[in-house]
Amino acid sequence: MDTLHRLISQLPKAELHLHIEGTFEPELMFAIAQRNGVTLNYGSVEELRAAYNFGNLQDFLNLYYAGTSVLLFEQDFYDLTWAYLNKAKENNIVHTEVMFDPQAHTERGVPFAAVIGGIYRALCDGFEKLGISFRLILSFLRHLGAEKGFRTLEEAIPYKGWITAVGLDSTERDYPPELFTELFDAAREMGFVTVAHAGEEGPPEYIWGALDLLKAARIDHGNSAMEDPDLLDVLRIYEIPLTTCPLSNLKLHVIQRMEDHPVRRMLDAGVRATINSDDPAYFGGYLNDNFIAVADALSLTSDEIIQLVNNAFEAAFVTDGEKRKFLQLVREQSGK
Ligand code: HPA
Ligand code: ZN
Repeated sequence: MDTLHRLISQLPKAELHLHIEGTFEPELMFAIAQRNGVTLNYGSVEELRAAYNFGNLQDFLNLYYAGTSVLLFEQDFYDLTWAYLNKAKENNIVHTEVMFDPQAHTERGVPFAAVIGGIYRALCDGFEKLGISFRLILSFLRHLGAEKGFRTLEEAIPYKGWITAVGLDSTERDYPPELFTELFDAAREMGFVTVAHAGEEGPPEYIWGALDLLKAARIDHGNSAMEDPDLLDVLRIYEIPLTTCPLSNLKLHVIQRMEDHPVRRMLDAGVRATINSDDPAYFGGYLNDNFIAVADALSLTSDEIIQLVNNAFEAAFVTDGEKRKFLQLVREQSGK
């Protein structure tokens, strides 16, 4: 194996931008559909995979939400999360910050308790049996608006201790951050950290809004920051991490070729950029595949790979002591 590819797979890594519903592999989807007596709109695993050709974010979201329709019971959410954790282990992920979209399920009548219960039980098992530490991020669906977000935030109250942060995902265009200012104020008052998808399809103004109004501690994606030098300065000075997702960007035509991916330019600008898999079951690869795709296309050096890996631990919502422990692991594995 190429030495850089070996370095990528052997380094202990953190993943900070991962939608648990986006790890739903077609095989598991069909198995759960069958046991729940739900019919999918596709006849086979192959037929479903063949449909994974997305023109843009919305094209993808339509399939992503259709896929979630088979998830009904606590055990389904457990099985989904457990399958991801095994992939995470294969990818040498030692810390993962998992986003979940409760509204994709509660809107269909699935109890909030079943959703978070299954996910959290699997994450605890992953910590005990696989040694993967975790944080949980409750993400609001932008297209449902703030009022429904408030109802979801209320449903989360009994599980406050299980959730570290709230986020904002789904359709970006026409759903600017200012629609969610009060919702995020309320979430922060409850003690949650905030993150937000911004600058994936939306303009730099949406990243400014995520920072100024939503007080986002990290920006998910953040690609369009490259269009605004003042914004890059702010991201650098305040050490606001960007959780970029190379294969996602390519599959959703945020970039036209992997060679156009901004992650090296972000590093060069002194911004704390990280690599993540977003929705790996839909975009053709887990975390190592994302590193390899972007490293090959941009000819990243081993130092740049290590920087990206370290950035993720620095950007993680863990204590300074945990950060030091993780960064030490990277030093031991990389010899740097
Ligand atoms: N962007 C917005 N919403 C999402 C994504 C994404 O990349 N993945 C899952 N929901
Ligand atoms: Zn995402």
